[in-house]
Amino acid sequence: MRILVINGPNLNLLGRREPDVYGHASLEEVNAFIRGYFKKTEIDFFQSNHEGAILDKLHAASEVYDGIVINPGALTHYAYALHDAIKAIRPPVMEVHLSNIHARESFRTQSVVAPVARGTISGLGPYGYVLAIRALVHFAKKGN
Ligand code: DQA
Repeated sequence: MRILVINGPNLNLLGRREPDVYGHASLEEVNAFIRGYFKKTEIDFFQSNHEGAILDKLHAASEVYDGIVINPGALTHYAYALHDAIKAIRPPVMEVHLSNIHARESFRTQSVVAPVARGTISGLGPYGYVLAIRALVHFAKKGN
């Protein structure tokens, strides 16, 4: 079982960026927290501030991973190329947000990723990634 976790723009700043909204843990600490929940599942992590780099990673991931978790950052709200890439690839993609995007500014309540995601988890902090991976492992083993 192989899962890829992608974090988009500005998520490299976790811990320093609006800690009241996104928490005090760095991205490395969040990734270690996630890894701690899984013994048998191979998990790779990728972060980029560049939409094109994320698209390239998704294309390359298509034949490699059983599932993908993505926190697209602000790309969530407007990146139609990201929407298309997720639609084009084979593995199911779970959308994750640390904060509850529905409880914030109105521009954050729209996600162009949600319609092509297998599901969305929003507002559970780093534990959202764990639940998203659990769901992907479940679906990969059991079908639906
Ligand atoms: C975010 C929510 C987005 O609106 C924001 O642009 C982010 C982080 C979250 O994890 O809550 O960068 O995806």
